[in-house]
Amino acid sequence: MVDINPWSSEVSTDYERIIEQFGLEPISLSQIPNPSLHHRRGIIFAHRELGNVLQAQSRGEAFGVMTGLMPSGQMHLGHKMVIDQVRWFQEQGADVTIAVADLEANATRGYSLSDCRKIALEEYVSNYVAMGLDPERTHIYFQSTRPIVQRMGFTLGKRTNLSEFEAIYGFKGDTNLAHVQAPLVQAGDILHPQLEEYGGLRPIVVPVGVDQDPHLRLCRGLAGKTNWFNVNDRKNGGLRITVSVMDENQNIVGGDKATVKGVFARIVDALKGLGYSDIMADAKHGIVDLPAATQRDRYPIRMSLLHLERSMGGPGLLQPSSTYHRFAVGMTGGKMSSSMPETTIFLNEDLKKMEKKFKRSFSGGQATVEEHRRLGGNPDIDVAFQYLNFFFEQDDAALEEVRRGYVAGDILSGELKQMTIDKAATWLTELGEMRDQNAHLVNEFLAADAR
Ligand code: TRP
Repeated sequence: MVDINPWSSEVSTDYERIIEQFGLEPISLSQIPNPSLHHRRGIIFAHRELGNVLQAQSRGEAFGVMTGLMPSGQMHLGHKMVIDQVRWFQEQGADVTIAVADLEANATRGYSLSDCRKIALEEYVSNYVAMGLDPERTHIYFQSTRPIVQRMGFTLGKRTNLSEFEAIYGFKGDTNLAHVQAPLVQAGDILHPQLEEYGGLRPIVVPVGVDQDPHLRLCRGLAGKTNWFNVNDRKNGGLRITVSVMDENQNIVGGDKATVKGVFARIVDALKGLGYSDIMADAKHGIVDLPAATQRDRYPIRMSLLHLERSMGGPGLLQPSSTYHRFAVGMTGGKMSSSMPETTIFLNEDLKKMEKKFKRSFSGGQATVEEHRRLGGNPDIDVAFQYLNFFFEQDDAALEEVRRGYVAGDILSGELKQMTIDKAATWLTELGEMRDQNAHLVNEFLAADAR
C-alpha cells in the first residue's frame, strides 16, 4: 500500500502504483491540445475527469482552474510548478480562482490572519504577478473573508463522517479537529467557484502534486453525494440515469406519483434537448436509460442534469477535475520542502545562495573525472539535470542534447551544474525584475472581498 497523505514528510515516486491504487487516469500527450513543458516531459502524468475541461474548452464553453496557497514560509520551486500549470490553463481560456488558506494556516500553524495576509501578498501574489498571470482573469480571495466557503465546508460535512476521514487521511482519535475542518473548508474552496455569484456551473480543474489527491477524493465524494441525479454505465451499453432521494429533495423529486412523473418528464425533456431520441424512462423504477449514449456523452448529460437540479432548487455541483504532477527531487536528493531550505530554491533566493545549493546538490556523476568520461553520468538522479528538465530548460531539443552529453560523459557534473546555475540565475533575475515592475498590480489580482 502506498501511503499518500498531504502531511507526510516522505514522498512516494511509484507513480504507476499510485495510478492503480487511487484509480487515476494516465494522461496521454495526444489528448492535450497545446501541451505544456510539463505534459511533453511526462511531469504531469495523471488526471481525474480532465475530459470535462477539455470538452468545455473545445466547445468554447467556460471552465476554471482553482488552487490554494498556504500562507506560511516562502514561495519556492515546488509552488512555481503549480502556478505554471495555472497559467497554462489560463492561456487555454480558464478563469483562475486562488484561495489563500489563511483559516487553515491560522488553525494548524498558528499564524495570525494579518500575518497570513502579509505573507500571501508579499511572498506569493507578488510572484504570481511576476510569473505573468492575467490580472483580469485571476481572482484571489481569503478563506477568512469569504463566508460562503466556510458555510459550504460546514454543510458538506453532512456528507462524510469520521470513519471516512480515518480511511482517507489516517486520522485517529487524537487528531486535532482543525485537521478535520481544513479539508472541509478546502472542499468549499474547490466547489464554490461553481456558484452563480462566482461564475456559475462549469468544470473546475485543480492541478496538484499527487500527495494532495486525498483532498480531491474527499471533495469529489462530497460533491457527488449532493447530486440529485446520477449518471451510470448501463449494463447493456449506453448510460443510465437514476434519481437520489434525500432529506433535501424528498418533497421535490420524491412524494406522490404525479410529482415523480413530473420529475421524469423534466429529465426526459433535458435529454431531448441534447438530441437523444432513444430515451427509455421508467418512473416506477426510478430509471432513465439512454442505450445509445457513449462515455463522451457523460459530460453534457451531467451538465444538463446539474442545470435541471439547480432549476429545481438543488446545489447542482459538478465534481472537480484534477491533474497530478510528479515531484521534482529535493536538492539534497530527498523530498523538497520549505521547512528544509537546503532542499529547494526560493523565488527570491539570493544568487550566491542558489549557486551554493546547486554546487552542493546531489549529483548523478561519477566519483572521478576519469570514471565519468568512461562511464558517463546518470541524469535521472542528477539534481541539476532534473532542474533543467522541470524548471529551467524550455527547449526540448537542447535538454535532450544535455542529456546525451551527460550520459556519454562529455559533460562533467560540474559543467552540468554550472549550466543549471546560469539558467537559474537568469530566471531568478528576470523574475525579480518582473516582481518590481509589476508590484503595483498585486491589488488587481485580489477579489473585491479580499481588498
Ligand atoms: N491545503 C493546501 C496546501 O496545504 C492549500 C489549499 C487550500 C488548496 N485550499 C485549496 C489547494 C484548494 C488546492 C485547492 O497547500
